[in-house]
Amino acid sequence: MKNILVTGGAGFIGSNFIRYILNKNEEVRVINVDKLTYAGNLENLKGLEGNPRYIFEKIDICNKQAVKRVMEDYNVDTIINFAAESHVDRSIVDPTEFINTNIKGTQILLDIAKKIWTIGEDKYKEGTRYVQVSTDEVYGSLEQDEKCFTEKTPLNPHSPYSASKASADMLVKAYYDTYKFPACITRCSNNYGPYQFPEKFIPLIINNCLKHKLIPIYGDGSNIRDWLYVEDHCEAIYKVALKGKIGDIYNIGGHNERTNIQIVKKIINYMHDNVDDSINEKLITYVKDRKGHDKRYGINPEKIFKELNWIPKTQFEDGIVQTIKWYLKNQEWLENVVSGEYEKYYNRMYKI
Ligand SMILES: NC(=O)c1ccc[n+]([C@@H]2O[C@H](COP(=O)([O-])OP(=O)(O)OC[C@H]3O[C@@H](n4cnc5c(N)ncnc54)[C@H](O)[C@@H]3O)[C@@H](O)[C@H]2O)c1
Repeated sequence: MKNILVTGGAGFIGSNFIRYILNKNEEVRVINVDKLTYAGNLENLKGLEGNPRYIFEKIDICNKQAVKRVMEDYNVDTIINFAAESHVDRSIVDPTEFINTNIKGTQILLDIAKKIWTIGEDKYKEGTRYVQVSTDEVYGSLEQDEKCFTEKTPLNPHSPYSASKASADMLVKAYYDTYKFPACITRCSNNYGPYQFPEKFIPLIINNCLKHKLIPIYGDGSNIRDWLYVEDHCEAIYKVALKGKIGDIYNIGGHNERTNIQIVKKIINYMHDNVDDSINEKLITYVKDRKGHDKRYGINPEKIFKELNWIPKTQFEDGIVQTIKWYLKNQEWLENVVSGEYEKYYNRMYKI
């Protein structure tokens, strides 16, 4: 039986990953370690309580003793590090927690795993593996006519968030280069799907449509992101955990670049046609651009296609409809998440 430590498993991608793994019905036990920040929500894992293959521990990855205890108690052989402060806008307001969790927390996980898994100089217990879940944002921004990011594209982060993720990647690389520590790094494009916190772009649009609230768009809406359905991301990460080459980086994406305004219009049109015909493009409002706003992200995923035989299964046209339907069906979840604290933050950010 594999014992997989999932950090940040109460967040958006981590919770989808835990469901994905447990649904596969393989010989795995998942230990979810999450600090439960504003972005961590145990409701994302409803129904798993009592599952003998699922354990939850409320722990900060910066707490060395607690991480060590969990690693030993559950005989952890695999770590998938999702835990992070993940919202660019928040990192612009105050980077402190991004440095703590994303950089220091990563170093603590690496260090404890290295100590526990070592069986000799640069040798580790059979079957041990660390996966750092990173982002395409570490590569910086592309111009319209530039080629997509490959694993060899130099790092050029612009926001405190992406700088903290790039720093963590450098630490993971250093642990491999220096100690041959069994680690891989994944760098994925923007994810969408169920259980995403509604400060993020797609659920924010859906939520505002439902409430007939203005939909704030940074700048002129022409910024481009490369969108991937979250379950496809989960599958790719699991492939890297099982078969990725130690020390390697894998870009994850599905060649699905869209401008922000295209996404907004797509969602508004669906809501107009299927939910309420008073939802329309008059809800769009352009707000002052984000500081240092990256123009375009685009991932070249050829390496993971070829080496690990992974390709995304969900077409954007299907995935976006599935996602909207999920939010429509789970409005109670949405209401619980959009609580006082988030409202205050939202009003401060967009000043509308
Ligand atoms: N969302 C995306 O589009 C995307 C794309 C590429 C990569 N990523 C990366 O994937 C990972 C997960 O992203 P997400 O969107 O699910 O984020 P999220 O913000 O939804 O979830 C983060 C989770 O980490 C937990 N956490 C935060 N600090 C912690 C700490 N110190 N100790 C333990 N737990 C802590 C939070 O409680 C939360 O449950 C992140 O590392 C992010 O950089 C995200």
